[in-house]
Amino acid sequence: MTATPHQGARRSGRWFATSDLNGFIHRVALRAEGHGAAIADGRPVIGVSSAWSELVNCNVHFRAITAAVKRGVAAAGGLALEFPTISLGENLMKPTAMLFRNLMAMDVEETIRANPMDAVVLIGGCDKTVPAQLMGAASVDLPTIVLGGGPAQAAVYNGRRLGSGTDLWEYVAEHRAGRMSDEQWAGLEAAAGPSAGHCTEMGTASTMATLMEALGMALPGSAAVPALDARRIAVAEETGRRAVELAREGLQPSSILTTAAFDNAIATLTAIGGSTNAVIHLLAIAGRVGVDLTLDRFDQVARRVPLLVNVRPAGQHLYEDLFRAGGAPAVMAEILPLLDGEAMTVTGKTVAENLEGTPKPDRQIIAALDDPLGPPGGIAVVRGSLAPDGAVLKRSAASAELLRHRGPAVVFDGIDDLLSRIDDPDLPVTAESVLVLRGAGPIGGPGMPEWGMLPIPSKLLREGVRDMVRVSDARMSGTGFGTVVLHVAPESAAGGPLALVRDGDPVLLDTENGVLDLDVGPSELALRRADLIPTPPPYRRGYGMLFLEHVLQADRGCDFDVLLALPGERAETDPPGLLEGWLAGW
Ligand code: FES
Repeated sequence: MTATPHQGARRSGRWFATSDLNGFIHRVALRAEGHGAAIADGRPVIGVSSAWSELVNCNVHFRAITAAVKRGVAAAGGLALEFPTISLGENLMKPTAMLFRNLMAMDVEETIRANPMDAVVLIGGCDKTVPAQLMGAASVDLPTIVLGGGPAQAAVYNGRRLGSGTDLWEYVAEHRAGRMSDEQWAGLEAAAGPSAGHCTEMGTASTMATLMEALGMALPGSAAVPALDARRIAVAEETGRRAVELAREGLQPSSILTTAAFDNAIATLTAIGGSTNAVIHLLAIAGRVGVDLTLDRFDQVARRVPLLVNVRPAGQHLYEDLFRAGGAPAVMAEILPLLDGEAMTVTGKTVAENLEGTPKPDRQIIAALDDPLGPPGGIAVVRGSLAPDGAVLKRSAASAELLRHRGPAVVFDGIDDLLSRIDDPDLPVTAESVLVLRGAGPIGGPGMPEWGMLPIPSKLLREGVRDMVRVSDARMSGTGFGTVVLHVAPESAAGGPLALVRDGDPVLLDTENGVLDLDVGPSELALRRADLIPTPPPYRRGYGMLFLEHVLQADRGCDFDVLLALPGERAETDPPGLLEGWLAGW
């Protein structure tokens, strides 16, 4: 087989359309997989990045989805080449999947860049897999389309449909308070995981899937289709088809992931009552495409968008109910006056064009913009002497009476200290206390684990206390709730003032005015700082050391400094010296 002239115009043609020994070897490599005819007619090559793994229960159904994507690619005249990368599961991966988000992003990025692809389909599901894939692909900037895995079948326990985490946290509190027996607890365990698919409420996975549509990177209506619903297979096929068209059209992420797209994503995040983790992931994705997104922009946009979506933890229903109510398009159509309708999307049409003709939704699930479920500002940014670079609070999942609160700190140094003392009957804590956890940020965690929803001390639980102000440099599961201030930056391990707080110090949270203050004088804080004893780094080699050396703080998305887009430069789509040299002498 020799090179095909028409193939040369495509990126993959640089591998397959040359008449030299390089081209010969590349074509033979695909012939060995049985793709001779596909290479001969020069069809677009579509990389299919699958986050399938038996270590990730949320993604374990991806085989069928990937097969459907490949069918769609073939039907549209492309050649699909599936490739694995590492995958990240929230439940099994320790110390936290977030530690490895950037590693997966690097894996995806370099696999795309190093191989003959003209466009990419990203298939992710569990929390970190979706942002990791898009971060990597955006850095290469080949035409890209995202496909989520869909929410799992809802668990039912004692006749109640459960959110994967939201309801679990309630049962955890009941069990700790002695109001749920061990036998009942075992019954819950047996019922809690009925199928593959991601968490069933508006946790991080549902949030990120929805935001992929809001950013314009996924087909409208694709995010919320349940994992086991046949329509997920159909939308997978459609995604494969569209990927081939994208390869032909050359529509790149850099034309979609604009400032307007991120504003649209923040507005949608607020309307759906989405996860605080999305703040970090959107900051990181923006950093890959050179969009100057700041924490304050979240506050600015969120303040004009009310809560519309009645899905747990901010509401009552589940993500599959949002699917039946019209999914992300129905939400976006409702807030279209607050969106930039001219933003481009992977359909090749604008947001407004995609939303034309969207029917009115079920108002039980999606409230009207003029009759919302909750006030604007669901995601709030606070900053002050305790968080000079900012912190985040999910106001839509907090207690209204605690949004302005001043109370004495009860401080925990890391998770072990927290777990060993939180239920101590002698812990000097009242409902007015502010629980403070440090040593849980990107460096201190390490990896910024989801420890931010500190448990309510048992003795207060028994008194009926259900919420307290909690402050940490950790993250919180998207399924979590409560008056929980997260992502304090700089974190304590990076020298932030969080490291200086002592028991009894007054802490002031004023959400409306965006304030988080430690009411201790500067001279006292200087004395405390002089007394700080540095903790040894948890890693001295390997990826862990790379992470500690390069991770940015939460207000910048926790990406690695060396992975940010270079100012004023477009992405490096191809490796330097591609295809040149290694067999030049033949
Ligand atoms: Fe995977 Fe929640 S554990 S999405």
